[in-house]
Amino acid sequence: MSDLIAIIPAPRELVRGEGYWTSADPIGDALRTVVENLPDDEYRIDVTTDGARLSAGSDQALRHAEQTFAQLVGPNGVPVVSIADAPRFAWRGMMLDVARHFMPKEFVLRIIDALELHRMNSLHLHLTDDQGWRVQIDAYPKLTEVGAWRPETMIGKMSHGQTEFEYDGTRHGGFYTKDDLREIVAYAEERGINVVPEIDLPGHMQAAIAAYPELGNNPDNPIGVRQVWGISDDVLNVNDATVDFVRTVLREVLDIFPGPYIHLGGDECPADQWRESEAAQAKQAELGLTDAAQLQGWFTAQVSSVLAEDGRRLVGWDEMVETDCPKDAVIMAWRGADRGEIAAKAGHDVVMAPHESVYFDYYQADPETEPLAIGHFTPLEKVYDFEVVPAGLTAEEAARIIGTQCQVWTEYMEDEDRVGYMLFPRMSAFAEKAWGSPKTPFPDFLARLQIHLPRLTALGLNHRPLD
Ligand code: ACM
Repeated sequence: MSDLIAIIPAPRELVRGEGYWTSADPIGDALRTVVENLPDDEYRIDVTTDGARLSAGSDQALRHAEQTFAQLVGPNGVPVVSIADAPRFAWRGMMLDVARHFMPKEFVLRIIDALELHRMNSLHLHLTDDQGWRVQIDAYPKLTEVGAWRPETMIGKMSHGQTEFEYDGTRHGGFYTKDDLREIVAYAEERGINVVPEIDLPGHMQAAIAAYPELGNNPDNPIGVRQVWGISDDVLNVNDATVDFVRTVLREVLDIFPGPYIHLGGDECPADQWRESEAAQAKQAELGLTDAAQLQGWFTAQVSSVLAEDGRRLVGWDEMVETDCPKDAVIMAWRGADRGEIAAKAGHDVVMAPHESVYFDYYQADPETEPLAIGHFTPLEKVYDFEVVPAGLTAEEAARIIGTQCQVWTEYMEDEDRVGYMLFPRMSAFAEKAWGSPKTPFPDFLARLQIHLPRLTALGLNHRPLD
């Protein structure tokens, strides 16, 4: 039997002693205390041959202690250890795209289990995109009646400039009711995990425009929910009525999701339609803007005031830094580590999500032998080598890097098994970066991972096998 202690993410400090505590029910028999003089985020575990004590600075830290302790329990008993641990980053997140392919509620709950296992604390749900709208909105029922469904989906890989497509002939869709989402939020909260909803705007809105053509720039030419991947030119118009529409949607979203952060996207919004639209040009002139692209900042400011009125904080993709976004917006740096640097220097709090390291829709091995993926190459070791804080920041700027997040975009992941395959074990390596585990040689991490992978299987989650 292996004697290896395989805790993932590894604790900051672990000192091993001689022997084991053997108990028929170690989880039940361990002593637990929340201790006022420990910092809020810190916990300690002390195991002797006579028993175990978990002490923590808060209920949340005690949850972390429970996860670590459960991973200490092995076939020989519980090894004698002293552990002192606390996370490096406040935001330890994962984003799941449930728009490109709808994922059942039960699977989202299993993902929350996996986040808990990895002592992560944020689930970002990408709820809307060109290819599907996944959240019930009472004021606008067609968002889900129409926007949650596409008659068919392109087959294979989208290439740049492609105009001819083959389709699968299969209707795809689904959405979460408000009750579903409240259940997800409550389940996450019990496990110390905050759910961050994303309503991606003003681009990536084709499904909403399909449901309500008056939101688009060419309402006389109605469009359907998008059936191909890539970036759509169909973006929201900038009329006052559309601002009102979005504000109503957001008020309902705030009512479902009580957490402090609300994500309003902001990525990949082409301004071509605004350049061609008389109404958008008139709005641009009225606002004294010199370029149509600046309408994005104006639009986001109009709709995000709903968040501020309710004491919530705006989160956006790094394109938002280039628009005139509120200074207290949290920026997710996805186009590269340098984007995180720019955002931190501009005074924003930043979550590092650079695609080259933490986009888990990229290949993990030779594309010849892997299921179809979007491209690029991010094998497990590259994730394990990820440095969260970009070089080139002063200490004060580096303190604005509040955390990191891995992304699962699901264009090429049609079901839960495929998501599990792409997500794990890369998320296990990522969790060590988010937590700030001491870096060990990669083969040592792999040895721990061998013991860790069955924990994912026990949760009902698929993973890619180790090579
Ligand atoms: C993104 O990948 N468009 C955020």
